[in-house]
Amino acid sequence: MKKIVWIALCITSLFSEDGKAVYENKCASCHSGYIAMNILKENFMVKNNALLKLKAPTLNQLSFRLKQQIGDPKGDKDIHRMEVEAFISDYLVKPDKQKSLCLKEVIRHFETMPSMKGKISEDEISAVSEYIYDYDKKMVDKHKVRYENFDKALQKAQNEHKIMMIKATSEHCHYCKKMDREVMVDDQVKQALAKDFIPVEVDISKESLPLGLNADMTPTFFFIDEKENVLKTIPGAWDVNDFLEILREINDLKGKKK
Ligand code: HEC
Repeated sequence: MKKIVWIALCITSLFSEDGKAVYENKCASCHSGYIAMNILKENFMVKNNALLKLKAPTLNQLSFRLKQQIGDPKGDKDIHRMEVEAFISDYLVKPDKQKSLCLKEVIRHFETMPSMKGKISEDEISAVSEYIYDYDKKMVDKHKVRYENFDKALQKAQNEHKIMMIKATSEHCHYCKKMDREVMVDDQVKQALAKDFIPVEVDISKESLPLGLNADMTPTFFFIDEKENVLKTIPGAWDVNDFLEILREINDLKGKKK
């Protein structure tokens, strides 16, 4: 029995390594790896691609778009993976900008992808599709703000005289994910939070909020002082500049209350 588990583990790890290797050998010359969404936005929407001079959508862009727009993202997870793989498999053999999921502002900077017919095997396509499917979430988790659990956060807030920021999210909250990708990975936001706040994240589709708090929508941000008073409740998703402004205002509030 142990042996079977061990073999199964080896095979899975082989596959995951494979996907990365296929990407590096056959896709990376055009599709670059992770670049934070706010920088990509500036590059494509403001700087006309002059900032990054990209040749193709980045892997995190590809990953996010495919997962959002192919098949049913809220349906069965295994079927969804297969739907995304089928799209990639078809695109590699018969690329066509008409089928592209990218925004017009993005795709207009690129040539049509050359067909890889005969240059990539079925196994390689499966492996690279798995890798792409998981890529965006993996990268956002790696780069986004670190959250504490509530008990630890409360203690830290009291010890360090900081404000707790409790973010209410839910499983299929589109704007929570959008904010995670575009705002919670931004260096200035991460610095502002690290300096004056202790961030906590609660998925209200799975657990209830602490302190008897209640969120009518997600995301909602509750700012709590070290005596457990609610300083402010901010519902909704924000861009980097607005969110930084909110953090500044909340921090000023704390100063006034002292
Ligand atoms: C020679 C450069 C080049 C290589 C190599 C390349 N691509 Fe692309 N790819 C592009 C360009 C440019 C686009 C955007 C234009 C388009 O859709 O044809 C694109 C688009 C795509 C799209 C469609 C995304 C969409 O909806 O717009 C997928 C999927 C994709 N590539 C996957 C891959 C995978 C997987 C590999 C490696 C196995 C790969 N590409 C290798 C240049 C490349």
